[in-house]
Amino acid sequence: MYLILDFVHKLLSETVQPSDVCVDATCGNGNDTIHLAGLVGPGGKVYAFDIQEEAINHTKALCKEFKNIIYILDSHEYINNYISEQIKAVVFNLGYLPKGNKEITTTSSTTLKTIESLLPRVISESLMIIIVVYPGHPEGKKESETLQSFLRDLDKHQYLITKYENFNRDLSPYVLTISQTKRR
Ligand SMILES: C[S@@+](CC[C@H](N)C(=O)[O-])C[C@H]1O[C@@H](n2cnc3c(N)ncnc32)[C@H](O)[C@@H]1O
Repeated sequence: MYLILDFVHKLLSETVQPSDVCVDATCGNGNDTIHLAGLVGPGGKVYAFDIQEEAINHTKALCKEFKNIIYILDSHEYINNYISEQIKAVVFNLGYLPKGNKEITTTSSTTLKTIESLLPRVISESLMIIIVVYPGHPEGKKESETLQSFLRDLDKHQYLITKYENFNRDLSPYVLTISQTKRR
């Protein structure tokens, strides 16, 4: 089986095709952005959001070989203002910038607002949303509870919600996915 972040990259590799448009909603140090940029190739685009200039700079440095990344120093709650093209996948890696300021973290209210704003695109564009949740710090615990209680109530005939976790470790990171329920 896969470690949590390897699982996310595996899922992306199976979903994203050359020339697709994808979003890294929290680019941080750029590890998901660079993976996405490789998958979409020169004909595709990756929009990399972060609210910290430091994070955008780290991602730019890591991804300097790639010309298919659009860097956006803004909150992911405005994704729909920036992108009107069809989006294949949006990745959220919640929490704070590793080795950065732990006070600057994703928040349950903004994360929920962004997820809600993307739900129509899950249906109309077959968008897949992948969220890595870190319940081991106070805001992360709140985010974890908020997201789970919101997603649990979504219509199962429209949305397929999955959770991938370490079953024998408390408060370890886990992955939520939101996609369209496929009708047979
Ligand atoms: C865990 S880090 C991301 C790690 C990153 N995926 C990587 O591979 O290094 C979380 C990032 O989310 C950013 N962030 C927090 N709130 C945000 C928001 N509302 N919109 C966009 N980014 C946000 C933080 O600045 C931080 O860089």
